[in-house]
Amino acid sequence: MGKPPSKSSKSTSAPQKKSAPHKKASSPPLQYRPRAPPPTTPLPPPAAAAAAYSRARRLPLLLAGVTVIGIGCYSTLIYISLTRDDPRLKRIPRDASDRFDDNAWVYDSGVDTVEWLTGITKRRKEMASMARGHLLEVAAGTGRNHAFYDTKKLATVTMLDQSAQMLAVGKKKWKDEHPEYARRIFWRTQSALEPIAPPPQSPDGFDYVIQTMALCSTAEPVKLLQNLGEVAKPEGGRILLLEHGRSHYAWLNGVLDKTAAAHADEHGCWWNKDIGKIVEESGLEVVKLKRYNFGTTWWVELKPKPKPRLLEKIAGEASDVGGSGGPQEKVAQKPWWAFWG
Ligand SMILES: C[S@@+](CC[C@H](N)C(=O)[O-])C[C@H]1O[C@@H](n2cnc3c(N)ncnc32)[C@H](O)[C@@H]1O
Repeated sequence: MGKPPSKSSKSTSAPQKKSAPHKKASSPPLQYRPRAPPPTTPLPPPAAAAAAYSRARRLPLLLAGVTVIGIGCYSTLIYISLTRDDPRLKRIPRDASDRFDDNAWVYDSGVDTVEWLTGITKRRKEMASMARGHLLEVAAGTGRNHAFYDTKKLATVTMLDQSAQMLAVGKKKWKDEHPEYARRIFWRTQSALEPIAPPPQSPDGFDYVIQTMALCSTAEPVKLLQNLGEVAKPEGGRILLLEHGRSHYAWLNGVLDKTAAAHADEHGCWWNKDIGKIVEESGLEVVKLKRYNFGTTWWVELKPKPKPRLLEKIAGEASDVGGSGGPQEKVAQKPWWAFWG
């Protein structure tokens, strides 16, 4: 039995065998050299640390201050320009919607940021995702809701607007966003105050009628809503509105009233309308009503008024079960204010 190899000879022999076996004997022994310790920074005295901390906070505070002052100045300038004493503003028509023709290609860039900041983009998404079956979007404009539709749920889509220019922007957007959905979409350049033809696939009307930010720009909002009631399916049809108008607060309504004419002159929309009153006067049945942004953003879900044919059917059903109520009682309108808050 031979002597076992020592630890050191065992550990050095293996790698040397492979790379340079002939140098094995002549390699100098490894030498241990301690590493230099990392340089240490002396801790600053408490006063110096406090000064550094305050320097670090100064820049963000300065930026925040400049931003607040900037927003304040910008809002004041807008307010001054919108409330300027211009006799021409007294003659702005109730229908200033021709402005959309000129602004069509810059419309989106003008509203993108403010809609995102006020949560309107999120509400558009929420509303559009409710659509299914045969959809009509009224006053569809530049197609700000297009991206949010789930086309797999849509049997047909009808996009309507009286402005050919706004609709042209929307059409381009639809082609980019839903290239697969080209056969069952109809583009209608017409006023929503005129009769609206349902798609050939659904002669009794639309399952969903969506309208966003449009009651502000028509001179006859009640008539427009009533017309939507005519084209929604009498049974199961829904009309969804996302609108802007008067607030819960008198001071804000004062600002809206003072600036409305100048805003309408520039943008084609009267932003001080009482959406609740318009909805009430339309006679449509309110299913849901919610308000956001100090009450200026209105989410409204409506049902069409039952048609005479349907009223007769309901009356028949009521007498079949021995009910004493006539058709008027059975289809009584829910007051819109019952859904308040
Ligand atoms: C403020 S823009 C809103 C566009 C789009 N709905 C949106 O949410 O961005 C108002 C739109 O309503 C359209 N409009 C106004 N009155 C209309 C009417 N009587 N019939 C159809 N479209 C109308 C305008 O042409 C314009 O495109």
